[in-house]
Amino acid sequence: MHSTMSTSPTSLLHRTMTCDETIVTRHSTRQFLDKPVPKDILQRALNLAAHAPSNSNIQPWRLYILSGPTADRLKKALVAEASAGAVPRIPPLPDAFKHFRSELGKKIYGEGLGIPRDDFESRRAAVLRNFDFFGAPMAVIVCMDNTLSQADAMSVGMYLQTFLLALTANRVGSCVEVSVAGYPEIIRQTVGIPVDMDIICGVAIGYEDESMKVNQLRTKRISVEETAIIIES
Ligand SMILES: Cc1cc2nc3c(=O)[nH]c(=O)nc-3n(C[C@H](O)[C@H](O)[C@H](O)COP(=O)(O)O)c2cc1C
Repeated sequence: MHSTMSTSPTSLLHRTMTCDETIVTRHSTRQFLDKPVPKDILQRALNLAAHAPSNSNIQPWRLYILSGPTADRLKKALVAEASAGAVPRIPPLPDAFKHFRSELGKKIYGEGLGIPRDDFESRRAAVLRNFDFFGAPMAVIVCMDNTLSQADAMSVGMYLQTFLLALTANRVGSCVEVSVAGYPEIIRQTVGIPVDMDIICGVAIGYEDESMKVNQLRTKRISVEETAIIIES
């Protein structure tokens, strides 16, 4: 990914992003335009993602990439299930990590969507948008063989980030969504995913609605010193 380093605003918008720029530009998009992603962009991103490393090179990632009527059917079924109050089967966050989620919630629902803390109805409606893949034209279900383990899930994660970066480099937005994996039976039934595949997460893919404040938010990171211990002696 090289940069042509031109400085006019138009060419900045269209020039190739550097690797660093692509990494910092990727963020979670939570409102998409009703505009399809061209097949060649998707194909190129999939080809690049396939270069990701994996344990024993087993390449455990399996994707179901939905658009059109199947994507619509899946969204409808998931929204219906969530609206009916079915609790998604997602492992709970341990207490020590819960503050991250409440901070993110404040950012998305408060700052991004302008929903007051005590407006539970609007918050509920906003949470339901997860199951509509935030209006994205493309809904991806990420799976892995259920006999594999943690190291292999890590390989799927590495693949996924490579895929998202390749999409970002083409100005295509995305949001990884563990929320949808909370209703595995609905996904299996609608998409036809065999029982020997674990459903790890969903991904919403499409062009971002840049006018929405929720898409302009950027999340904070904890310090590198807290996450990477460098021992030299
Ligand atoms: C495994 C995983 C699951 C996620 N699940 C959801 C989700 O269900 N709903 C959602 O809105 N965002 C979800 N996200 C997006 C995260 O909230 C987001 O990556 C994080 O807050 C950092 O923000 P950024 O992606 O904009 O950099 C998920 C991200 C990952 C990696």
